[in-house]
Amino acid sequence: MTKFRWGVAGPGAIAVRFADAMRLADGGEIVAVASRSQERADAFGDRFEVARRYGDYAALAADPDVDVVYVATPQSEHEAHALGFLRAGKHVLCEKPFAMNADQAGAMVAEARARRLFLMEAIWSRFLPAYRSLADIIAEGRIGEPLHVMADFGVRMPVDPDNRLFKPELGGGALLDLGLYPVQLCQMVLGTPEDVSANGVIGVTGVDEQVAAVLRHPGGRLSVVTTGLRVHTSRTARISGSEGWIDLPSYMHCPGSLTVNTKAGRQYITEHIDASHEGNGMQFEIDEVHRCLAEGRTESKAMPWADTMAISETLDSIRSQIYYKPSTN
Ligand SMILES: NC(=O)c1ccc[n+]([C@@H]2O[C@H](COP(=O)([O-])OP(=O)(O)OC[C@H]3O[C@@H](n4cnc5c(N)ncnc54)[C@H](OP(=O)(O)O)[C@@H]3O)[C@@H](O)[C@H]2O)c1
Repeated sequence: MTKFRWGVAGPGAIAVRFADAMRLADGGEIVAVASRSQERADAFGDRFEVARRYGDYAALAADPDVDVVYVATPQSEHEAHALGFLRAGKHVLCEKPFAMNADQAGAMVAEARARRLFLMEAIWSRFLPAYRSLADIIAEGRIGEPLHVMADFGVRMPVDPDNRLFKPELGGGALLDLGLYPVQLCQMVLGTPEDVSANGVIGVTGVDEQVAAVLRHPGGRLSVVTTGLRVHTSRTARISGSEGWIDLPSYMHCPGSLTVNTKAGRQYITEHIDASHEGNGMQFEIDEVHRCLAEGRTESKAMPWADTMAISETLDSIRSQIYYKPSTN
């Protein structure tokens, strides 16, 4: 079987996990890596036996023997990097959050559409066994009509101006890195919100350190999203319907199990579902990319461009409310 030839752009923390997961995926191999520094590209190449190492991102785009690029740079760089690779004829898997805002996301999607190239936001949660089970349970109607989602993802980190999460210029803050996961779950289960109300706390480095948002979805559905960088929260999610509810334990973006509670007369029956898997779980999204490429599809049905755009617009709406409050003077 011909293997899809991957290039990795940005040999940082998540790229290491991606390379580990590639060993468990079917039908692909990493053949090239790019960094702003030749030394860092070489270090990644040595660690994962990647033959071609580039000290700049343009050289990776120019490599004719790369089919698809994994963009694993900070979100501030996603638009420029993804557009560069698409314009060079490469398919792209772009880390979440897809872009800094919906305008950038729209430009990236338009480029892929015009060039008939594959492009997907790397929301790996959607391809994990737990999220596949969640989608099936809802589709089977086991909790009736889904009406409400509460989803939270917060961790306490020390304030560190050198950490990209605390740097506004790299798209830092709780919302884009962590809050994206609750937002995307609400999008997946309840559809595109028709109204968004948000509040937040901006820290000393200028990024959002706590955010809460209430999203109203069509059909009388509601969701509540919380996230934080300076507080340990439950990191769980509950999806409630007319006939029961589903709990995702911590971490809600990559749970190893889920619990389904369904109504049986006046009682509720609880079912625990094991959703454990080998490795770190990123192999499932890599497999999806390979399936799409093999079938000549430009977008994934499980993570379509429309959802990426809707998520970007929700994040924009939340950010506009927490960063640019009208002056009270
Ligand atoms: N799917 C997930 O579970 C998951 C988890 C964590 C992060 N992410 C996402 O993945 C992306 C990368 O996160 P990470 O934690 O891997 O970050 P990281 O460890 O800081 O790595 C980012 C890489 O981007 C490269 N880069 C290119 N331009 C840069 C710039 N202007 N400033 C800083 N670095 C730049 C750096 O490589 P060179 O300096 O060598 O060029 C660096 O190795 C983010 O969008 C993040 O939200 C996803």
